Amino acid sequence: MNGQCIRQPELRADTEKSEICANGSRLSKNRFVYIMMNKPAGVISSSDGRKTGEKTVVDILPQSMKRRGLFPAGRLDKDSTGLVLITDDGALAHDILSPKKHIDKTYIVRLDRPFDDETAADFERGMLLCDEKCLPAEISAENPERTLARVVLRQGMYHQIKRMFKKHSAQVLELHRVKMGALELDPSLLPGEARYLCEKELELLKTARGGEHNIL
Ligand code: URA
Repeated sequence: MNGQCIRQPELRADTEKSEICANGSRLSKNRFVYIMMNKPAGVISSSDGRKTGEKTVVDILPQSMKRRGLFPAGRLDKDSTGLVLITDDGALAHDILSPKKHIDKTYIVRLDRPFDDETAADFERGMLLCDEKCLPAEISAENPERTLARVVLRQGMYHQIKRMFKKHSAQVLELHRVKMGALELDPSLLPGEARYLCEKELELLKTARGGEHNIL
């Protein structure tokens, strides 16, 4: 059940909410699956790495979680780590990724030098990157040296955080996503580990789609 092997025959499960498999076939009615992974560095957030021969987040899922149609909802660079949502629910993924929704994504970023107030002001104003104006982003220091930053983005341009810091002569050494909207990375997941979303997390995802407020 939900990727775990169940050995108690008396166990009762809610078949609407749990993923129940026997001999590799799914028995429960839940149409879609929703998985959070702590993406390790070195794998790509794509469902198909055949062209480039690279390993994907779907490739490294445990065998018991794999099923047809799974893909990551949103991108992280190959060398970035942290929260990736993997699902087979295309409509939900579309909503999460829609630029109109401006869903916040939170990252912890390690830099090769401290960021200064001017950098922070440019993040908060919405900086120009190759003539394209970014939406305002939040930035705060996570350590007294200001070499560790918490950054909240409302959009996902190509290599956005790396480019934003590069504009201010800082290099991103590590980038770890900890949150997508209200969905937080489970801190107990080691790099490469994954688990199904719990009911509450799933509700957050589903409410975000139809609701007035983008809570995800
Ligand atoms: N910004 C980046 O530069 N890389 C990521 O993986 C995510 C945001």
